[in-house]
Parts: sequence; structure tokens; C-alpha cells
Amino acid sequence: MSVLFHCPECDAVCSSEVLARSAAFACSCGRWRVDERGLASFLRPHSSSADVEQTTYFRDRYHERWRREQAAFDRDTRHDRYRAICFEKVRARALPGARVLEVGSGLGHFLRQLPPDVEAHAVDLSIGNLEYLRETWADETLSARLWNASIERLPFTDGQFDVVYAFSVLWYVRDWPTAVAELARVTRQGGLVVFDVYNGYSVWRQWESLYARIRRAVRPVSDGIATYYAWPTALSTVLARAGFQTSVEGYYTLLPTTLPPFGTCGQLGQRSDVLAFRFAHTALRWTGAKLLIAARRVN
Ligand SMILES: C[S@@+](CC[C@H](N)C(=O)[O-])C[C@H]1O[C@@H](n2cnc3c(N)ncnc32)[C@H](O)[C@@H]1O
Ligand SMILES: [Zn+2]
Repeated sequence: MSVLFHCPECDAVCSSEVLARSAAFACSCGRWRVDERGLASFLRPHSSSADVEQTTYFRDRYHERWRREQAAFDRDTRHDRYRAICFEKVRARALPGARVLEVGSGLGHFLRQLPPDVEAHAVDLSIGNLEYLRETWADETLSARLWNASIERLPFTDGQFDVVYAFSVLWYVRDWPTAVAELARVTRQGGLVVFDVYNGYSVWRQWESLYARIRRAVRPVSDGIATYYAWPTALSTVLARAGFQTSVEGYYTLLPTTLPPFGTCGQLGQRSDVLAFRFAHTALRWTGAKLLIAARRVN
């Protein structure tokens, strides 16, 4: 598993082969080393993120929350079907020996399904999630190299991965065009990038922003994680500029996965397979609450 990456302090190119052999790897600049728990951290104290508070929240406090939330998602058969559709695109290209990168790997729902003969790498902002993976893998055959970094600034040098994917991640990133450009940058020619976004064109977005304005007026303090919507035209531009051909599928047509303030009672999109899945490849996909993007690097 020898991947080339940039030292977060001096930008020198280092090889992960050294990292694998030594728990105490340090860059020759002397300013960066793998922490004592053996996790390679690429986050600077003041990360490049435009959203420092949210970055810190994900890094230090998100793990427990995601454990609870993922357990709820796991009980939701429609969401499970959606995740299977997402992962099928990855699986089809995760051939033996392929170098695969998951960004925002969470508790390893997708990572665990990768074939054992691929070279797997996992990036996450949450230290707790990465530690969870390391501990729960102690008795499993699958292993992946773990990197604590942000999708907005991946540590790797260009064009090293055959398949790069990020599911349920981009909507937490304010500067999502930079994040998408990063996924594209580390993918080799002929390689595949797959990810999903909340759709800026969806009716859901209109409803949610109206509701958020009302809520802020009534109760100005919020402890929620901010979410962001992506515009398909801007996405295609970023990917075309990076040499990718893009295909878009749309899920949860017209109605969203959650509808504040009605919560699960408002989840018509979740109750109906028709709205959730039937129109994924039709013109109505552009109204989908979630867009699933698969892009192949052609030059
Ligand atoms: C909703 S969870 C999804 C986890 C996993 N992809 C799944 O579907 O099971 C979002 C994941 O993205 C990570 N994340 C959030 N912002 C990130 C960022 N800027 N860079 C890398 N990972 C991030 C979180 O720590 C979390 O593990
Ligand atoms: Zn260095």
C-alpha cells in the first residue's frame, strides 16, 4: 500500500510505505508526525475549511451522534436500498488490485463491503469514527489505511486512485465545489468518482430554507449541523473542467427524505418506492432530493 501524500506542514511528498512500517513516522521537516495513537492526521489547527466550527464538531464530537443516527438508518429498508444502489457503482469498478478511496467513511458501512483484494484507503474528519474502525477491525480480515483529513484538502498527490467515492458527505461541506474538485484530482485517468449531493433544484430545498427562516425568527439558537445544497450545473462544470464525463441519477423525487417540521410523518418520499426510486433515470430526476453522481475521467 504505497500511496504518495503531502506532508501537511511542509508539503514534501512522502510515501505511505514508510507510514505502514513505523508507528512513529515523521516527515523529515520535523514538524509533522503520526500521533501517538497511530492515526495519520492531516488537519491543521486552523483547517483550510471555510467552516471551522463545523470542522471541529465533526473532528471531535460527531462520532457518538453518528453511531445513533446510523443505527436508525440501518433500520430503514428504503435507505438501505438507496445505499445499495450507490455502492453498486463502486463495486462494479472495484476490481482485484484496484486502489479505492472512500472519503467520509463513517463507521465503515461501505468500506466493509469492498472486496478483500482491493487496496482500500479511508479518509474521515471524525477521529472517533476512525478509531472505531481501527478497533472493530482488529478481528476482521478487511483492512484499510486510515487518514484523518478533510475532503476539501485531501493529502494525496494527483491521480493515484482507480475508484473514489463519498456517500452522505458532500452536504456537510460549505465549499462543495472544492471538495468535488479534490475527489476528481486524486482520481487517475480512466478512473471513477461516485458521490451524492442534496439537490439545489429540489422542492425540498425551497421548503427547508423557508422553514429555517421561520425557525430562526422564532428560536434563533441552533445546535444543528449545517447542510448545503449543490447545483447540478455547477457540479457538471467542476467535473468537466477536471476531464470527467458525468452521469446523474435523481432519488426521492419531489419529496425529501425528511420534511421539517413533520419529521418522519412527512417522509412521503420514504414511504413510497415510486417517489423514491422509479424516476431516477427520467427527466423528473432533476427534482430529486438526492442526486447520485458517477463521473469517469476521460482525459
Ligand atoms: C452521514 S456520515 C456518512 C458515513 C458513511 N459515508 C456512510 O454513508 O455510512 C458523514 C461522514 O462524513 C464525515 N465528514 C463530514 N465532513 C467531512 C469532511 N469535510 N471531510 C471528510 N469527512 C467528513 C463525517 O465524519 C462522517 O463520518
Ligand atoms: Zn514535512
